[in-house]
Amino acid sequence: MTGVFTFLRSGGIVVRMNDLKTKTTMNEKMDSTMDKKMDSKMDRRTFLGSTVAAGGALLASTALSYGKILGANDRISLGHIGIGSRGGDLEFIAGKLKDSHRVEMTTVCDLWKVNREKAAAGATKVYGRAPRALQHLEDVLALDDVDAVLISTPEHAHSPILKMAVDAGKDAYVEKPMGNVLAEAKAARDAVRKNKRIVQVGTQHRSEPYPRAAHDLVQTGVLGDVSKVEVEWNYHGPRWRGRSEVKQIREEDTDWRKWLMNKPYRPFDPQLYFEFRLYREFSSGIPDQWMSHGIDQVNWFMEDSFPRSAVAHGGVFAWHDGRENADTFEALFEYPKGFLVRYATSFGNDAPSFSRFMGKKATLFNIGGEGSPRYQLVEEKGNHEDDSDVDKQRASRYVTLPGETKLPPMGIDDLSLGHMANWFECLRSRQQPHCTVDDGFAHSVACMMATEAYWSGRKVYWDAKNEAIVDSAPA
Ligand SMILES: NC(=O)c1ccc[n+]([C@@H]2O[C@H](COP(=O)([O-])OP(=O)(O)OC[C@H]3O[C@@H](n4cnc5c(N)ncnc54)[C@H](O)[C@@H]3O)[C@@H](O)[C@H]2O)c1
Repeated sequence: MTGVFTFLRSGGIVVRMNDLKTKTTMNEKMDSTMDKKMDSKMDRRTFLGSTVAAGGALLASTALSYGKILGANDRISLGHIGIGSRGGDLEFIAGKLKDSHRVEMTTVCDLWKVNREKAAAGATKVYGRAPRALQHLEDVLALDDVDAVLISTPEHAHSPILKMAVDAGKDAYVEKPMGNVLAEAKAARDAVRKNKRIVQVGTQHRSEPYPRAAHDLVQTGVLGDVSKVEVEWNYHGPRWRGRSEVKQIREEDTDWRKWLMNKPYRPFDPQLYFEFRLYREFSSGIPDQWMSHGIDQVNWFMEDSFPRSAVAHGGVFAWHDGRENADTFEALFEYPKGFLVRYATSFGNDAPSFSRFMGKKATLFNIGGEGSPRYQLVEEKGNHEDDSDVDKQRASRYVTLPGETKLPPMGIDDLSLGHMANWFECLRSRQQPHCTVDDGFAHSVACMMATEAYWSGRKVYWDAKNEAIVDSAPA
């Protein structure tokens, strides 16, 4: 289980190992992919009383007051808002945990009839009875019997919906990035704190065993002083273009104005609806989608939250298909603890993805793209100038789990259960989950800084005191 890294002058790495043919699974697969309206005002008792599955386990039906700590026997009643591609994943994950964590999806909500009906049919199969299926999230939030909501709408709506949900007394699992408009993200974060809600932000790798083991290893100080972190995740293809739903959706089957959320009105645009990641006003693209995961991991491993400054560059160089957001993107951050972070993604070439934490004593490599479980620690010993063969003297080992003898895989799908399970546990214990709203706010700030730097062409700074992105270094 040892491998030898050859460092190229170009800064890339070649990994000589027999088994590195495994294809990295990059996440956010675009393809992973009832209007039987019940009375949205129906209370918990009526809902449960009218639909308890015959012969099924008797479900606790006491109405929950939201200040209350859920007991081990209370069933957690969930509502799910925005159930498209990622929403389908979350629906699957919650369903897998329904017995172990005593949860039930009692309400599904999507503006689009097709996804709403699909989600309701799915939940009926999993839970043995039909959930309420509602078009508008306001009707979900008005339901006293819904304890907590999952939010998997497009990212321009994450913070606004999170704020509405916690103001309505709901706990929430919100997809990443937690927000992409600074004032909205702040307002949501403040509302979570004020209402003392339990919020998990959807960077699920924080709850997976290998990143957790690697995180703990870094905390031992094994790397020595870290001066640089690099994250490079590539993919070959016109990412985020070509969603099949674009041809399927009709305006009369959704509520376009509601979809726009806080954005100015414009005529119905099915491409914007499902390919929102390509359009600047709704998403930053690579930062919101991928860098949010990458920078969240850097923040977590390095125990530093907000970059001091950021620059960014890139453009549409590979896919001239009308996209506004870059398909080739690179950002550099300086962090207050004193290290540089480089994040880079190319959609025009699938050269091997990696991350590396570069310390004076050792380098921690994460071999593969987002969420890859394969971590290798390589000793730092001397330098190439004094000894061109120095690599041979660098001891290395993989980060493995107790009792494991195989090399960890180089990819993971988006369906790991740990993050949702951790949130469910925290709903009962009222402890903070693995990715708190403050962590989500921090990764969102880094994404917004990179985006601002990219579009303005300027270096930007984080003014921590005033929580603002500014053009010159704060005093
Ligand atoms: N954690 C991960 O690994 C991961 C993976 C993929 C996507 N994501 C995140 O998931 C989010 C959603 O991506 P997607 O590909 O599933 O999008 P999608 O377009 O497939 O699904 C979004 C759904 O939300 C519905 N919707 C939009 N606004 C709504 C509103 N106000 N009320 C109710 N329903 C509403 C839409 O009708 C649609 O069905 C993205 O922000 C992305 O960052 C996270």
